[in-house]
Amino acid sequence: MKKLIISLAAALLSLPTMADEGMWLLPLLKGQRFQQMQELGLKLQHYDIYNPDSSSLKDAVVIFGGGCTGEIVSPDGLLLTNHHCGYGCIQRHSSLEHDYLTDGFWAMSREEELPNPGMTVTFIDKIDDVTDYVKGELAKDTDPNSMNFLSPKYLNELAKAKVGENFLQDNPGTEVEIKAFYGGNQYFMFTKKIYKDLRLVGAPPSSIGKFGADTDNWMWPRHTGDFSVFRVYADKNGNPAPYSKDNVPLRPKRWFKISLKGVQENDFAMMMGFPGRTNKYYTSWEVAERRDIDNTIRINIRDIRQKAMLEEMLKDPSVRIQYSSKYAGSTNAYKNSIGSNWAIKKRNFEQVKKEEQDKLIAWGEKNCDGSYKDALVTIEQIISDRKDLRTRSWLLDEAIIRGIEFVNVPTKTEKVIEALKGNDKEARKEQLRLLERAYHGFANSNYSAEVDKKIAKVLLKEYRNQVNPHVQPEYFQIIDKKFKGDIDRFVDYLFEKSIYGSDDNFDKFLAHPSVKALENDPMILFANSVRKEEAALKESLQSFNDGYALAHRTYVKGLLAMYKDQANFPDANFTLRLTYGQVKGYSPSDCNYFGHQTTLDGVMEKEDPTNWEFVVPKRLKELYNANDFGRYKLQNGKMPVAFSATTHSTGGNSGSPVLNDCGELIGINFDRNWEGVGGDIQYLPDYQRSIIVDIRYVLFIMDKYAGAGYLLKEMEIVE
Ligand code: ARG
Ligand code: GLU
Repeated sequence: MKKLIISLAAALLSLPTMADEGMWLLPLLKGQRFQQMQELGLKLQHYDIYNPDSSSLKDAVVIFGGGCTGEIVSPDGLLLTNHHCGYGCIQRHSSLEHDYLTDGFWAMSREEELPNPGMTVTFIDKIDDVTDYVKGELAKDTDPNSMNFLSPKYLNELAKAKVGENFLQDNPGTEVEIKAFYGGNQYFMFTKKIYKDLRLVGAPPSSIGKFGADTDNWMWPRHTGDFSVFRVYADKNGNPAPYSKDNVPLRPKRWFKISLKGVQENDFAMMMGFPGRTNKYYTSWEVAERRDIDNTIRINIRDIRQKAMLEEMLKDPSVRIQYSSKYAGSTNAYKNSIGSNWAIKKRNFEQVKKEEQDKLIAWGEKNCDGSYKDALVTIEQIISDRKDLRTRSWLLDEAIIRGIEFVNVPTKTEKVIEALKGNDKEARKEQLRLLERAYHGFANSNYSAEVDKKIAKVLLKEYRNQVNPHVQPEYFQIIDKKFKGDIDRFVDYLFEKSIYGSDDNFDKFLAHPSVKALENDPMILFANSVRKEEAALKESLQSFNDGYALAHRTYVKGLLAMYKDQANFPDANFTLRLTYGQVKGYSPSDCNYFGHQTTLDGVMEKEDPTNWEFVVPKRLKELYNANDFGRYKLQNGKMPVAFSATTHSTGGNSGSPVLNDCGELIGINFDRNWEGVGGDIQYLPDYQRSIIVDIRYVLFIMDKYAGAGYLLKEMEIVE
């Protein structure tokens, strides 16, 4: 009997949360997962990783900018993240004379490190469970439909009230934030310290940092050295301060030791970072909605857009440069959606979620609690009721708002018009100058009207095919009335007539500015009409979204109650999490097997000097041919590049430190395989892999390739 109970308990425990699944909250880790981590090989104690009363490994993990993770690797504030996370900074410092994107950049002394105004690095000083406090405050709210329980504004007011004004005044650079977890069933407060002086220390050339570019993006086996190096600066007291040449390198509480020991298949590995968003608690109807509306529309529309863009890029090398970043941004989410739909189908996520729902309904009934069933009925109804609106909203967003660039021409012309009507010559000059600046901000060096025109033609045709004419933006009536439905002519007309249609048009307008030209500008009218439709859709969808959020909270509450004997992790919400698992390869399909470690051999195999995505820099080839890998090579003499692990990561985990059983840095996370992106809905143990650049490749590039070996002196390297 005892045995039976034990094995039943074990079966239960392993049911909803699979072995390496989970993005765990650090304060809950000890009770939830620590034992399993140790069983898998972790040699640390829980307080080594997270200690509310003193410094621990978590203090070396930071939010890099607005959507990536970074880690501190020296007592002088040296920071590692991905090349694609530092890309914007590297790009801003680049010019034709100093093309750091192409050639890479290495500061050879602290004086040469480059400031990046506007960038931030955020440390998480403290994490507190404030559920009782927040629920107490929410209970004072008399409106049963109040959405305060999820409102960032409301929650952050509560956070400020909790710590008090004085605390924030006494601690410069400190902010507090309360975030909702489990759909609003639990709340944690994060005390954050935000540093604003961040300097670029080094970056490999894109031919290393972005090797394989879009073709290899979301793919394993991978051969990208996706890393860049920064340093955090503080004022003389170690406090956050805006850039100043008097600032000094930050003396951090913690930094990671770096291991050269490397990885073997099945080794324990863990990652800390800031995963952005997952949907583990989807119902079956939301899975279908995601598949049939969100993903399908995105795939279909971007397919059309990217084909048109690529055609132009292949025709003209200058267009290729102009549009490479836009193309990459477009394909990134596109490939992700393809992988997501593949996994939804392959693993029948709809059925998986349905079984969970049915189980909860039965469990609720057994406990005389019908609220979960009610919540599920509500969700099903909402998903069905919002179908048309959501479809329209996704089509408008993908085909027009994100798809067509000229929707973003400057439309706020009221002040210009006012100045043109008035007699104040100076005001008029000033307003026209501002408009000119806004125009050039839109039609910048990465904009091609020809490409935009071509894309607009194909996308508007698709949009008009898919959306009922009665619910298209109002201005579209012109297409039928004036152009007899001829979209090509309509688009040509917009570019011909609009002041924004070309630099010529704009210059002509500046030479003879008129109120009429602005008020009747067809591109402005078009853009405003699209925005109006966007706002209307958003408003119509809001009531559904609110109703959904309330029901979702009840559903998640039910699952937590039903599975209360086991560890449950909340969906990702860009808060600090830990995921652990093993270094492992995988089998993508019958008879195929991918190993866990790639090497420089693979870089050479992929080399293609005629394709910018696969150019290998000369110096790297020299090192390869000379087998000059120093202490960074594998036992078999090869040079490691990347490895894969079963850790449960998502967007936002880019740049995350990957640590071994001793908590030493072994790699930097930068991607996932496309077969694994379904893990945002349901973890896929046999398919899902984090893609991680091996720290030995990072050091090899810094030391041997770039000759910036002096940086290694400030790190703690464990051989
Ligand atoms: N797929 C990775 C992540 O979302 C890397 C993206 C950057 N690289 C690229 N080729 N677009 O987001
Ligand atoms: N590249 C992603 C990022 O920028 C991480 C890949 C993933 O989604 O797992 O955050």
